[in-house]
Parts: sequence; structure tokens; C-alpha cells
Amino acid sequence: MGLGARQELARLVESYGNRALVVTDPGIVGQEAFRGILEQLQGAACETVVFGEVVPDPPLEIVEKCAAQAVRTRAEVIIGIGGGSALDVAKVTAVVAKHGCEVPSLFGIDQVSQRGLPTVLMPTTAGTGSEVTPIAVLSDESQQLKRGIVSDFLLADHALVDPELCLTLPPGPTAYTGMDTLTHAIEAYTNKFAVPLIDGFALEAVRLTGASLLAAVQEPANIEARYAMSRASFLGGLCLKSVNTAAVHALAYPLGGRFSVPHGVANALLLPHVMRFNASVSSDRYRTIGQCLGGFEDGVAAVQEISVAVGTDRRMRDFGVERKHLAEMAAAAMEVRRLLKNNPREVTERDALAIYEAAW
Ligand SMILES: [Fe+2]
Repeated sequence: MGLGARQELARLVESYGNRALVVTDPGIVGQEAFRGILEQLQGAACETVVFGEVVPDPPLEIVEKCAAQAVRTRAEVIIGIGGGSALDVAKVTAVVAKHGCEVPSLFGIDQVSQRGLPTVLMPTTAGTGSEVTPIAVLSDESQQLKRGIVSDFLLADHALVDPELCLTLPPGPTAYTGMDTLTHAIEAYTNKFAVPLIDGFALEAVRLTGASLLAAVQEPANIEARYAMSRASFLGGLCLKSVNTAAVHALAYPLGGRFSVPHGVANALLLPHVMRFNASVSSDRYRTIGQCLGGFEDGVAAVQEISVAVGTDRRMRDFGVERKHLAEMAAAAMEVRRLLKNNPREVTERDALAIYEAAW
């Protein structure tokens, strides 16, 4: 990690071969920093093919298409550059391109049987922390669901975190991806399976977000704020591997899968409501979170204040969700057991519905 860390890319890639597939999205392809990265690879005589078709909440078919291109071009290394979607597609592509497996067979926990092609991941948001997580989330459009692939074999060979790549991220995505980071940290720190080592990462991510997210949103070129947020995102990612998230993320899944609410927005609008639901069992930890966010007594109020300030304090009805949808969303959220089991307080379907109603 560091300002200009992207300059290390060609050196890292060289050890794996001289044919690379770069996985990214259309917004990144036209950017100056991206062109610089391609020139760097060409300068190192690395044959580089760009797959620039990743979309938010990527459907699993994108991975199939991307992997087919990797096979066709005999890629020896997969480079993911972008937000969580591009990095997740790169991670799964590496496995599918090498082993020819069907994407649906990988959904769930530990369904990937071996490592794929070598991967180097470079985040352009802060963020999902996907560069250091063993998780990829794809949309299964046939079921209107977002589904996770969780396996240590998805972990990147290298994560290159260059905060300069976030300088062009507009205020809106800066705000909601930053709230995703904050959610990772809070859900890890208040997790039923929290561990002391990860608590340290989580609280540092909370502190950095409290100190810098608003500045990164208001002054996109503020490199200190961008650096702090990239660091927070990276630390939040480390929390995901060892502890993972809980009810906020579980309840956010149906919002993304069915109503295409961006992941960070879905988390931001649910976070204070889930925190209130958990408050009776997490009060000490919420106090610590409040302190880390800048000396607040009440962690929930602190989170709400940040969310209002950065413009993510929205309601579900703003995104086309109607009240009649809430019951089926609550039923769908109950399917995300791998995350719900981590919540400090048990969430029943009725509880999930009450949380949705509060956030609606
Ligand atoms: Fe997340």
C-alpha cells in the first residue's frame, strides 16, 4: 500500500508470465491512471488484454464471458482493477479460467477446490476491501438474488492499494463505498464471533472513517483523506476474512439483488436500524465505536450523523421498494444464514421485517 503503489504492478506480474488479462469496468477504461497502467505493462513486454465489461452487482454470466476471454488469450495472470465488482469478477475468473468449472457450482462456503490463475488486485474505491477478502458476490439473475462465493482459494496473490486510484471517484460512490467500509468494521467488532486481533483492525477502520470520510466526499482531491479511507477499506477487508459481517449485510442482499440498490447504499440505510436492534446486547461496544468516531457517547447516533453528513441517510422507499415487498424481502434475508449467524442478537423473520419497516 502507498501513494503510487500501482507502479509495482509490472514487477509483480513479470514473475507469473507475460500474458495478462485486465478485468475492469467501462468507467475505469477511459481514465488516465488506467492508461498509465497499461503502458507500464506494455513497457515490460507483457501482452495485455482488457476485459472492460464489469457492471455493478455483476451477473454470473459476466464471469463466464471474462473467463472465456482469459482462456482464449491464454492469460497467465489476472489483474483486477476497479471497485468490488471488478475485483470479485477477477477473483472468480481466475478459478474458472484455470479449472473450467461452472460458476453456480462455486456458490456457498468452501466450494472452490483449488487456487486459480495468479491474481493481482488494485482497488479504485474505498471500499469493499475485496482486495484482501476470500469472498466474491455475484448476482444470480434467475433467482433475483445476490450470492456469495467464499473460499480461501479466492484470496489474491497480491493486493496493490494505491489511494491515488481513488482520486477520480465521485462524491456519491465515495460516500456509499466508505459507509460499506464502516459497516464491515462495525459488524466485525460487534460480531458474535469477534476476536481481539481483528477488533484492533476494526476499531482503526472505524476511527479512520470517522476522521476522513466526510473530507474525502467534500474534497475529492484530498489525498490524505483518500489515503486514510483506502487504509480503512483494507483493514475492513481483513475483518471480513477472519470474522465477517452480520445482519446489515444479510438484510442488504435482497435490496441489491431485487432493487439494484448499490451495496454501500443498502448497508448505509440499514446500518443505524440494525444497530438499534442490536443495542441491548452491544451497548459497551457501541460506546467504544462512538468514541472512535470522534468522542460520541452513543455509537448509533455517531453513525447516523456521519451518514447524514455524507448524504447516505436514505430510505428504502427512495429506491422503488414498496411496503408490500418487505415481507418477501425479510423471507429472502433469512436465507443469508452464513451472515445472520454472526449477528450479536438473533434475528427472526419478524425482526427482519421490523428492521425493514423502520428503514422503509
Ligand atoms: Fe460490504
